[in-house]
Amino acid sequence: MVTGPAETAFEFDVVVVGGGGHVGLPLAIAFADRGLRVAIYDLNEAAVSTILAGELPFLEDGAAPVLQRALAAGRLHATVDPAVVSRGEHIVVVIGTPVDEHLNPDPHAVPRALDACKQHFRPGQLLVLRSTVYPGVTRRVEQLVADEQLGVEVAFCPERIAEGKAMEELFSLPQIVSARTPQARKRAGALFGHLTESIVELEPEEAELAKLFTNTWRYIKFAAANQFYMMANQQGLDFDRIRGALAQDYPRAADMPGAGFAAGPCLFKDTMQLAAFTDNSFVLGHSAMLVNEGLPLYLVSRLESRYDLANLRVGILGMAFKGESDDIRSSLSYKLKRILEFRAKQVLCTDPYVTVDPNLRPLPEVLADSDLLIIGAPHRAYRELATDLPVADVWNMLGQGTVV
Ligand SMILES: NC(=O)c1ccc[n+]([C@@H]2O[C@H](COP(=O)([O-])OP(=O)(O)OC[C@H]3O[C@@H](n4cnc5c(N)ncnc54)[C@H](O)[C@@H]3O)[C@@H](O)[C@H]2O)c1
Repeated sequence: MVTGPAETAFEFDVVVVGGGGHVGLPLAIAFADRGLRVAIYDLNEAAVSTILAGELPFLEDGAAPVLQRALAAGRLHATVDPAVVSRGEHIVVVIGTPVDEHLNPDPHAVPRALDACKQHFRPGQLLVLRSTVYPGVTRRVEQLVADEQLGVEVAFCPERIAEGKAMEELFSLPQIVSARTPQARKRAGALFGHLTESIVELEPEEAELAKLFTNTWRYIKFAAANQFYMMANQQGLDFDRIRGALAQDYPRAADMPGAGFAAGPCLFKDTMQLAAFTDNSFVLGHSAMLVNEGLPLYLVSRLESRYDLANLRVGILGMAFKGESDDIRSSLSYKLKRILEFRAKQVLCTDPYVTVDPNLRPLPEVLADSDLLIIGAPHRAYRELATDLPVADVWNMLGQGTVV
């Protein structure tokens, strides 16, 4: 039992709204592992049952033992009942904030979720927004809280972990903390001080942009590498060989990424949030999107110029949006699949981790039934791939170059 600033007793130190998700769950169990009493509130009943059974609803390195420890210690509760929001001192919101099919962000996603459980808020709570939000959402939430006279303080503390690395990065990355008042900032800093010693303070509007700039910067770097890849490849040259040479003992180029599908639920949509925020005048962001999203079609066109693709069966190895992940959200392997379904004789797909797609086939079957392979996600297992088939390997997983 902890005591909030208004001397109100709260049963939980933290309630994580959206705590069944890819960033909410690691955060919840990280807090529990540091001794806090944590409740997860999530709409997803299946995820909540899985968590209560001590299992992860998705892959996250090192998270399963932490979850099991938290449950065994009685420090983690999970529920689909929004009333749990009334029982926590800190309410951390990490619901999804995708862009729609027209690439519009939804600035109402977080306010809508809060509106749905506003009757459960209690004076003295600290509401921490942790979803990546469209700029201005924090102020909108502050207004909602004021209009409803909830007596709740608001902070915005963006999540910056990479999926799969949460259990390491939650404790090692600096935490950006922002709030309108020094007291709310102090409370948010104290909360995240349980995870990391490195707290970086900003104003809410700065922090909203800091998060979007972080992801967009990464997305643009991937786009630069992908564009260089296409330039080199167009000349029959191996981009990875060129990159290795130019970065050798040359620190200023050491951060040049390799080429490959830059996809997933964050980088693309956060770049598009920033584009919408600048009234679609974000030339660099849109260009990065065209390059990264254009890579599957570029590869197919290149293969068409070398092979009689319409009469070939093509196997895609790796359907997740990145290596060692089971997450297929916004995966470019699926975009590649859709293109090939129209332009090749047949498409066969496999992935060692993805469990949500009933159309996937085991790797040996795909190897046996394909004429040509494309590596879609750079899962480590593919480094050992033994095949005589031609492989389009933008990632250079096989060490035989990237030329397609
Ligand atoms: N995935 C990442 O690597 C990553 C990294 C940093 C930041 N983020 C940001 O974190 C946020 C969450 O991303 P995610 O990948 O965890 O998404 P997710 O879809 O995996 O998780 C969101 C969870 O919220 C739940 N939810 C949705 N609406 C709800 C509501 N009204 N009430 C209660 N629960 C609700 C969903 O059921 C789901 O379990 C996004 O804003 C994302 O941009 C994600």
